[in-house]
Amino acid sequence: MLRIGVIGCGYWGPNLIRNFSQLNGSNVVMCSDLSSKRLEHMKSLYAQIDTSEDFHDILRRDDVDAVVVATPPQTHRDIALAALQAGKHVFVEKPLALSVEEVSDLVAAAKRSGLTLMVGHTFVYTAAVNKIKGLIDAGELGDIFYISSTRVNLGIFQEHINVVWDLAPHDVSILNYILGGMPESVATQAHGYIRDDVEDVAFLTLRYGRGVMAHVQVSWLNPNKIRRTIVVGSKKMLVYDDVSPLEKIRIYDKGVSVMPHYDTFGEFHLSYRFGDIYIPRLDDSEPLKVACQHFLDCIAGKEGGRSAGGAGLDVVRVLEAADASIRDNGRPIEIVPVGSGTTED
Ligand SMILES: NC(=O)c1ccc[n+]([C@@H]2O[C@H](COP(=O)([O-])OP(=O)(O)OC[C@H]3O[C@@H](n4cnc5c(N)ncnc54)[C@H](O)[C@@H]3O)[C@@H](O)[C@H]2O)c1
Repeated sequence: MLRIGVIGCGYWGPNLIRNFSQLNGSNVVMCSDLSSKRLEHMKSLYAQIDTSEDFHDILRRDDVDAVVVATPPQTHRDIALAALQAGKHVFVEKPLALSVEEVSDLVAAAKRSGLTLMVGHTFVYTAAVNKIKGLIDAGELGDIFYISSTRVNLGIFQEHINVVWDLAPHDVSILNYILGGMPESVATQAHGYIRDDVEDVAFLTLRYGRGVMAHVQVSWLNPNKIRRTIVVGSKKMLVYDDVSPLEKIRIYDKGVSVMPHYDTFGEFHLSYRFGDIYIPRLDDSEPLKVACQHFLDCIAGKEGGRSAGGAGLDVVRVLEAADASIRDNGRPIEIVPVGSGTTED
């Protein structure tokens, strides 16, 4: 039974407390928040959990094996580093931290101490994203041409990070995971419409090599909540709508091919294929529960780490380059490859 301390009980932290409390292999023993009101609320839900406004009280306890960090991103590096230095395994909500330098400190500290460091890239634990990865890996969609992803809604406006750092970690972690690697470059156009110093709308173009292009639109300034990813391959096309309760993935047997024989441009013909649409049945487990179980399995040495520190570092390298591109009027910024994020490193 792994004993867990949760730091940060705002909007997202209670979901982590609930999941780690319900899993067979873990138990939440303490939680911390700067707000006494939030702690009173948590105590009203979980009478047996100790609370403190000082997260160091969690780190000082010998009976806490692992710490979950669900505080605002600008605090992640310091809290997670202190937890690793106190000998605790650490699960940090996305983004792992706010620069490559900060994340590298965490990855190095985890490696030195042999502790598990995992980032909450929730979407790589969804049945839909794993189905898409399976289809791509099995060649069902053919060669991937391009991917287009839209993650927009109204709010929640952040003060310390722009919309790229808030929402794009999801898209970049999905793209890196399903394509099995890092983009070679990212170009980003963004603007702050409500506050001119914090971009609230952004358009990222990522080049993944072998001609694979990805486009990501993220916004806090949109009337509807849209979570849609379109994957276009040489054989089939796919639409993933995360907001749809029952039909999250539709696979379209549609495509275009060039007719094999032609001598002149006048004879150049395309053949369009309009086949069936297939909606696969997906497991409806809560992705966060799967992620929490994965953390326990990583600590037990049963899993290699689907979103280990290295994967968190890969995502932050892309976000940092996207930010640099915004400051440089959307110029593509090259991302120099270093290692892969798919293993625990
Ligand atoms: N995986 C997901 O789908 C998902 C969804 C929402 C949020 N998140 C992530 O979860 C994290 C928290 O987001 P949120 O929306 O819950 O933010 P929030 O502002 O609602 O909550 C953060 C809480 O942390 C507390 N806090 C701040 N500094 C602290 C400290 N030093 N010690 C103890 N408590 C402290 C605050 O008092 C606040 O209650 C962010 O990293 C965010 O990106 C992830």
